[in-house]
Amino acid sequence: MNHLSLIVFNLMVFFWLFTIIPSVEGRKFHSPCKKHHKGSGHFCNSTTIFNILSFGAKANGVSDDSKKLIGAWKAACKVPGGVLQIPLNHNFLIKPITLQGPCMGHIIFQIDGTLLAPPKIGTWSKSNLYQWINFKWVYNLTIQGSGTIDGQGCNWWDPIKSKHISDIKPTALRFYASEDTIVRDITIRNSPQVHLKFDNSERVKVNNITISAPRNSPNTDGIHLQNTRDVEIMHSNVGTGDDCVSIQTGCSNVHIHHINCGPGHGISLGGLGKDKSTACVSNILVENSVIQDALYGARIKTWQGGKGMVKNVTFSNIEVANVNFPIVINQYYCDKVVCQNQTNSVAIKSVRFDRIIGTYSTQPIHLACSTDVPCTDIDLSDIQLKPFGGLLGGSQLQRALCWNSYGNSKGPLVPSSINYCLRKGGGGGSGSVHEMSRSYDEVC
Ligand SMILES: *[C@@H]1O[C@H](CO)[C@@H](O)[C@H](O)[C@H]1NC(C)=O
Ligand SMILES: *[C@@H]1O[C@H](CO)[C@@H](O)[C@H](O)[C@H]1NC(C)=O
Ligand SMILES: *[C@@H]1O[C@H](CO)[C@@H](O)[C@H](O)[C@H]1NC(C)=O
Ligand SMILES: *[C@@H]1O[C@H](CO)[C@@H](O)[C@H](O)[C@H]1NC(C)=O
Ligand SMILES: *[C@@H]1O[C@H](CO)[C@@H](O)[C@H](O)[C@H]1NC(C)=O
Repeated sequence: MNHLSLIVFNLMVFFWLFTIIPSVEGRKFHSPCKKHHKGSGHFCNSTTIFNILSFGAKANGVSDDSKKLIGAWKAACKVPGGVLQIPLNHNFLIKPITLQGPCMGHIIFQIDGTLLAPPKIGTWSKSNLYQWINFKWVYNLTIQGSGTIDGQGCNWWDPIKSKHISDIKPTALRFYASEDTIVRDITIRNSPQVHLKFDNSERVKVNNITISAPRNSPNTDGIHLQNTRDVEIMHSNVGTGDDCVSIQTGCSNVHIHHINCGPGHGISLGGLGKDKSTACVSNILVENSVIQDALYGARIKTWQGGKGMVKNVTFSNIEVANVNFPIVINQYYCDKVVCQNQTNSVAIKSVRFDRIIGTYSTQPIHLACSTDVPCTDIDLSDIQLKPFGGLLGGSQLQRALCWNSYGNSKGPLVPSSINYCLRKGGGGGSGSVHEMSRSYDEVC
């Protein structure tokens, strides 16, 4: 090539790069954001919609549409403000998948139709039983719509059908190491196990969702939080066979309000400290909620032998109806008939139960704190619990139980046995309890 033709060739390449490629991109994605909002990403005004149907999904609820969903996800993930659409009145069978980020910017997963998990246990790959739909390293995702995520879990709940597989049962929807997630308006039902789980995540908002599974389905927690911070869960209905919301180690700044919980096992912290592990949970506020037809109401449970601390937890303005044990701290949590006694325990400090009102069906309050590490700064105020229905003084009713818990109570307190529940003060005058709780705090 001589000099001139080299220059002409370069000019052509230049022309091609800067005119043709952008116009192709532009047509494909209709994305004015590219020019005007570059870098700002969030809530870009161009809505660029990727409908799963245009990726070839069969939408008959029987053929496997997983690859189509992944295709639509990848496309939506590549543009700022991408919208992945699951259209109304269509059913999509989806095998276990991971939808991975990070994406170009804010991404919307619009679910108006139904996503179905494989109903037959045998069709699940044995190497991937932890979850069904897994979001990993995704930032600024909003899941919304009037649609349903259906785990079709009934075979998993059957002890005979699920026995040969393993002890692991899949979570329906899991977020791992994700930030700025919003889940709103959708329904999640019949998960094989946990319905919605956040793991190692930050800034989560759950609003106006419905979670449901039969009351006798085993371990079907509604929302499960683990190592996750800055969470708000609100205006939602959760009724399953286990905890409505379960808060595990590593969680802080969790605000739960306007939740309708039941049936199930109430709103729980723990079980913490299993197998002598360290657990740290702090700054939890649960308020303005209703718990009904549930085994427990507001509960903290720890295994014996753990380390770490639970502190600054408030349950306030909770209406309970037909709850067996509305207020529980159990530091002897055990999944067998008898667990061996241990000296260590996850310390529990600064817990308020304030305005817990309604009916109980077994025991109004059960504070079983560790013998070696007492619960300190426990606050009971305005607790008004009456026996449910006709169980007036029936033999199945038990008196308030309090063991090794220190703090203050303020009336009204009904039944009156709650008056004698707490030991006064911050855990004995010696100061040794404070020392002890400080050392527990330090590991967190
Ligand atoms: C997510 O959105 C927030 C708020 O708009 C923004 O500050 C942040 O950079 C975004 N994160 C990512 C990874 O895009
Ligand atoms: C987005 O576009 C709509 C019309 O399509 C307009 O009304 C709205 O003001 C725009 N919003 C922003 C933030 O540019
Ligand atoms: C709650 O979600 C439903 C769809 O499931 C929707 O129809 C309704 O408008 C939402 N409510 C609010 C207040 O956003
Ligand atoms: C206790 O937790 C609440 C949130 O639940 C928070 O607003 C408050 O600042 C925390 N208090 C302390 C002393 O950390
Ligand atoms: C554990 O301690 C409690 C209370 O001291 C006692 O009643 C119980 O029998 C002990 N359990 C075992 C397994 O040692």
